[in-house]
Amino acid sequence: MIARSNGAASGGGSRYIDDDRERGVFRVDRATMTSPEVFELEQRQIFDECWLYFGHDSEIAKPGDYVRRTVVGRPLFLVRGSDGSVRCFYNTCPHRGAEVCREERGNAKRFTCFYHAWTFDTSGSLVTMPDEEGYGEGFKETCSLTTVPKLDSYRGFWFISFNHGAEPLHDYLDGAKEYLDLVVDQAEEGMRILPGTNDYAVKANWKLMVENSLDGYHGLPLHQTYFAYVKSLGGGISGTNLVGEGGRELGHGHVVLEGEAPYGRPIARWDSLFGEDSQDEIAAIRARLVDAYGEHRASRMADNFRNLIIFPNLMINDITAITVRYIEPLAANLMRVRAWALAPREETGQRLQRRIDSYLTFIGPGGFASPDDVEALESCQVGFRAHPNVQWSDISRGMTRMPTVIDEVQVRAYWRAWAARMDGRPIPPPVEWPETPIPAHR
Ligand code: FES
Ligand code: FE2
Repeated sequence: MIARSNGAASGGGSRYIDDDRERGVFRVDRATMTSPEVFELEQRQIFDECWLYFGHDSEIAKPGDYVRRTVVGRPLFLVRGSDGSVRCFYNTCPHRGAEVCREERGNAKRFTCFYHAWTFDTSGSLVTMPDEEGYGEGFKETCSLTTVPKLDSYRGFWFISFNHGAEPLHDYLDGAKEYLDLVVDQAEEGMRILPGTNDYAVKANWKLMVENSLDGYHGLPLHQTYFAYVKSLGGGISGTNLVGEGGRELGHGHVVLEGEAPYGRPIARWDSLFGEDSQDEIAAIRARLVDAYGEHRASRMADNFRNLIIFPNLMINDITAITVRYIEPLAANLMRVRAWALAPREETGQRLQRRIDSYLTFIGPGGFASPDDVEALESCQVGFRAHPNVQWSDISRGMTRMPTVIDEVQVRAYWRAWAARMDGRPIPPPVEWPETPIPAHR
């Protein structure tokens, strides 16, 4: 189905996108979001190849801590072993295949498969099995759990790769590392995932959620209820300076949208909604950031929001609070979203409550933004399915001007990287406004 766009595309050299920088037109073939063949090819070209987010260090803080999770539908579990080493296992028993780890998270010295009770230690070795005499000598030693080919972490974020030949994570993360640093360095004692998971399905292609998270253009029209609500409570920091900020390409398909936050930020951007009595505390946090990192970097941490995509499917929304949002493709027209709140370890009491309120009010599944976004994405998907003769989605905004926070440099960069991976071509280096200065607001 996608082949119908062959020849229609120009500039990008891909059958999936029409990338014409001379005309200032960028379009994506909607079959990329409906075609089962495209979905299958993504599994091979993208999810078998890239580094993929698994979880956060704070979720496996102590020896024996484990987390079970699926990554693109593949069951895995991550364990901190009794030796302190972290390992990620395929969650399938070497005996006959059942899931060995059946709890979402916990602490264990051993994992006993529920089917025939083969039992493994935290390093994946088979330690006991019923009626061991029924097997030949040395058999047990050949039956360890299988580890995922690659596992590594950066600043507390654990990634896996199914690709034995994957480049080092540090290289893969490329320019995204600077933005992860900007998030993690907000904490004095490191970051932690707060208890609880927002877990929901969306009847839409997973890349629509990527687009949405990078899309500053929809904020005001789609989320007007939120902004009206904030205004009705007497809160809300007025408009943003739109010049000289916006999207950036960070290499390897990673992209970010950064700009001045039009709302308070729990770390150190006071808003009246946080209450008068929080002013001194927030000013003190801000002073600590300035001491530690200087005015410019401290202002970026405190005043700017950033929506970071780590290619292909991890989002860090550092906005009204910090969300680690993991998008899992399940079918061409179905995704699962899991989101966790990330917070500085030292936050407790009122300070932590401000963050949790801020998180849930805007991006929680019952908040003012997420339901709007889900409705919009499902609506797009209905249109794609119903009208395949309407071939293109447009992403041309701001292609011919210095980017602003509502332009789409970052969305185009993501799609160029996606198309290059799908075609087996190298990802192009940053092609739009690579020298844009990084803004700060005080
Ligand atoms: Fe696990 Fe048999 S499948 S013990
Ligand atoms: Fe939104």
